[in-house]
Amino acid sequence: MPSNTDSSEFVPAMAEIAREAGALLIKYFEARVKIEYKGEVDLVTEADRKSEALILERIRAQWPNHDVMGEEGTRIESGSDYRWYVDPLDGTTNFAHGFPVFCVSLALEFKGQRIAGVVYDPTRNELFSAEQGRGAYLNNRPIRVSAVDNLAECLVATGFPSHKRHKNPNVFFYHQITLRTHGVRRAGSAALDLCSVACGRFDAFWEFNLNPWDTAAGVLIVEEAGGQVSDFSGAPFNINSRETLASNSLVHEAMLAEFDAVFKGRGLEELPSPVEYAKSRGKAIK
Ligand code: IPD
Ligand code: CA
Ligand code: CA
Repeated sequence: MPSNTDSSEFVPAMAEIAREAGALLIKYFEARVKIEYKGEVDLVTEADRKSEALILERIRAQWPNHDVMGEEGTRIESGSDYRWYVDPLDGTTNFAHGFPVFCVSLALEFKGQRIAGVVYDPTRNELFSAEQGRGAYLNNRPIRVSAVDNLAECLVATGFPSHKRHKNPNVFFYHQITLRTHGVRRAGSAALDLCSVACGRFDAFWEFNLNPWDTAAGVLIVEEAGGQVSDFSGAPFNINSRETLASNSLVHEAMLAEFDAVFKGRGLEELPSPVEYAKSRGKAIK
């Protein structure tokens, strides 16, 4: 058992656990599992639970004294300096519909500091990892955020919560930032969205109401790849924050300025009226 906080002692074992859980997910994915509901549109499957059980067993076997918080109900809180955040299947809605964008996300904190994180996408065999102060990697090769410094040239990502979705204003941000960038993707796995910022596929990502298990690993991977993560006012990211804004750091200020404008109701582009559009249907298209 590691006796100090040297995170490089953890990452190889974390990668092995994530790969094992990813292989289990693929088996269920190919068999098309039954969908159950946690909330109105909050889905869960047997694969989520089996993956969490496997990960928990592996963690407990190697680090029996560590605390663990897992999305599917694991809460081990003994006051240990070490705490794991486990998302056994990030992207359940995609998974349940057969859309191949999902992953396993594991992060480890020591005294409240993120020291190691691993995100594994079993559909592409892509393993993202980071250790505090040692950079970020994709399949063991170093990765870096993009060098795009102009918001208008950015490809950006977001997500919409399945919980309390009627109360979420994100569609306004989606609309505004779509008009200000090359586009906004909504792929359905926050951990993979963060990793895509880390390796330069996306230039920024934001989401309301994520949970610690969605963000813990991905945030460390973005930071170690040279990116920046904050809340929507620019304050440092906090694991219990309900606001996540990650970027290549070069466009962070520009993203914050867009958020500020939307929150103040300033500069909002008007949406075209669907009623007017409907009236024009059937007429010759010019
Ligand atoms: C969800 C995904 C999705 C995000 C949701 C999350 P889950 O996690 O990360 O991209 O938009 O907010 O809850 O439920 O599939 O683990
Ligand atoms: Ca998740
Ligand atoms: Ca999950």
